[in-house]
Amino acid sequence: MSSTGEQDDYLLSRDYIDCDRLNLQHSLWTKIFGYLLHPRIDTSSPTLTIADIGTGTASWLTDLSALLPTTCQLDGFDIDTSQVPPKEWLPANVSLHKWDVFTDLPEHLIGRYDIVHVRLLVFVVKGDLTGILRRLVKMLKPGGWLQWSEPDVRTMRILTAKAKTQTQPGAAPGPDTTAASTANANANATPGMAHLFSLSASQDPRLIPAWPSQLDEYFRAAGLNDVLVHRVAEAPPHLEFAMHQCNLLMYEMFASRAPGPRAREILDWVPRAAEETRRGAMFAFERVAVVGCKGK
Ligand SMILES: C[S@@+](CC[C@H](N)C(=O)[O-])C[C@H]1O[C@@H](n2cnc3c(N)ncnc32)[C@H](O)[C@@H]1O
Repeated sequence: MSSTGEQDDYLLSRDYIDCDRLNLQHSLWTKIFGYLLHPRIDTSSPTLTIADIGTGTASWLTDLSALLPTTCQLDGFDIDTSQVPPKEWLPANVSLHKWDVFTDLPEHLIGRYDIVHVRLLVFVVKGDLTGILRRLVKMLKPGGWLQWSEPDVRTMRILTAKAKTQTQPGAAPGPDTTAASTANANANATPGMAHLFSLSASQDPRLIPAWPSQLDEYFRAAGLNDVLVHRVAEAPPHLEFAMHQCNLLMYEMFASRAPGPRAREILDWVPRAAEETRRGAMFAFERVAVVGCKGK
C-alpha cells in the first residue's frame, strides 16, 4: 500500500483501503456515540461556521452538512487532502483547506468558528497537546464549542466470545501500563493478537498514548468552560467487533512505516490475529468524546 499524499511521518497509508477504513470507522463511531455533535452543543443557528481538523475523507463533515441548513459553512482542514472527494462532488457549503495543525494558525481563521471538531488524531499527536489546543481555541468565536473524540488506547483488552470478558488482570491500566503488559494478559488465549498489539505499539509512542484519558484536563488548562466527558466504556459487542475488523487493516499500514525486520514480523502476525478473530476474539477499547466552551 503506498501513500497517495505528500511524504510526512503519518503512520497510515491514505490509499483507497485507508479511505474505506475511515468511512466505515466513521459510521461505526457515530453509532457507538449516538451523535455527530454532542447534544450539549447548540446547533440551532442557521449560519453556523464549523471546522473539522484532520478531516480525512470528510465523512463527518458531509454527514453533518446533511443535517444542517445549507446556509451553514463547514470547513475541513488536513495536512493532506487527498482522501477527500473532489470538490465538485461535495455539498456546496463544504470546503477543504490544507493546514498542518502543528504550525501557526493563519490569521484569517482566528475567531472564525462556532464549532471546532477533532476526531482520531491519536496516532498523529506527539506528547503534549498544549500547542495544538491553543490554536484550536483561537479558531473559536467567544461562546464557541470544541469537541474532540479519541479511543483510549491504553484501555485495550482482548475479549473472546466464549469467555465473555477476558480482560487484562488487575485494575484498569494506569499511566505506566505498557503495551506489552496489556497485550500479554491474554497471550495464552489469543497469542497472535497479543503479540501483534505489543509489536506495533512498541514501534512508535504515538501508538500507545496517555493523553486521550487526560483530554478534559487539557481542555480546562486551555481555558475552556463547561467541560463534559462522554466515555463509552463498553460499546455494543457487535459494533466493537466490526470496529476491530476495520482496525485490523491498520497493521499492514503500520508495517509499511516500520523498519524492515519489524515490518516482516508485523506482517507475519497479522494472519494469526485474523484467524483468532475468526474464532471469536477482538481488541476492545474505551472511547471518549470531550466538549468545552470558550468564554464570551
Ligand atoms: C485517522 S485520520 C482521522 C480522519 C477523520 N478525523 C476521521 O475521524 O475520520 C487522521 C487524519 O489526520 C490528518 N493529519 C495527519 N497529520 C496532520 C497534521 N499535522 N495536521 C493536520 N492533519 C493531519 C491525516 O492526514 C488524516 O486525514
